[in-house]
Amino acid sequence: MTFRQKHLLGIEPLAPDEITTLLDLADHYVSLNRGEHKHSDVLTGRTQINMFFENSTRTQASFEIAGKRLGADVMSMAMQASSIKKGETLIDTALTLNAMHPDLLVVRHPHSGAVNLLAEKVNCAVLNAGDGRHEHPTQALLDALTIRRAKGRLHRLTIAICGDIAHSRVARSNLMLLGKMENRIRLIGPPTLMPARIAEFGVEVYDDMREGLQDADVVMMLRLQRERMDGGFIPSEREYYHRYGLDEEKLSFAKPDAIVMHPGPMNRGVEIDGTLADDINRSVIQEQVEMGVAVRMAAMDLLARNHGGAS
Ligand code: NCD
Repeated sequence: MTFRQKHLLGIEPLAPDEITTLLDLADHYVSLNRGEHKHSDVLTGRTQINMFFENSTRTQASFEIAGKRLGADVMSMAMQASSIKKGETLIDTALTLNAMHPDLLVVRHPHSGAVNLLAEKVNCAVLNAGDGRHEHPTQALLDALTIRRAKGRLHRLTIAICGDIAHSRVARSNLMLLGKMENRIRLIGPPTLMPARIAEFGVEVYDDMREGLQDADVVMMLRLQRERMDGGFIPSEREYYHRYGLDEEKLSFAKPDAIVMHPGPMNRGVEIDGTLADDINRSVIQEQVEMGVAVRMAAMDLLARNHGGAS
């Protein structure tokens, strides 16, 4: 097994062989999860604490199920009700929890870099469940596993990432992962939602869907991250859907067997046509959710091994 990390803070520090190790182990957990007895004991006796400072449905549920299936004692903190509301800092909260000897801390935070800072202050493994616009490593890994299973490989594919690139940690982590695995990456979206100087990162940039989707193997749609916008980035949702929303007609420019992805939560009729999102012949959105549990099990399993019982 090649996985040298003590934390999973982002895709940036991962080498391609570590990504492959994690995805191979996740494949094993997909089989376990599809069986009747979904239990393993690799985290028995370990304590996992989930701290979500931002709303989450699938990521939080998925980390919780993943930990339980591996036999860990799992606690999800209700951050709205915690002492953070009384003014306690993130670091004080982390130190308080650290004193209770957790083995795994899963953290989502609205500020980019907050999870890395926290990881410096605690003794256990820290998993980033999304920090601001920075990284969302388990999302990129679950996307990679979904692509690898659907396409039979994770290299030399043409992958279009579409929509609100500028505010998206999902796009950032995916860009790094898919780049490390030597894929051709196209970013499609309005110039107002495209990070400055992004073309320097070896990606192709388009503001026209039909041009950008040409011959794509994978079409990854992103949510409009309104909570991270502080002005008029798009004229109107109607106009946005017209130009950038994925429907059958725009998808017809991609390869006939192209898969459609979305990390959720989706705005139907804004980023994607609802019928297309539900079309099991094209859309792998539900598979992404399924892969999310397996990838999180693999990540926590590998990190727990690297912490070798010390907590
Ligand atoms: C993403 C996130 O939180 O960054 N969602 C998720 O984890 N499934 C994407 C989003 O919120 O649009």
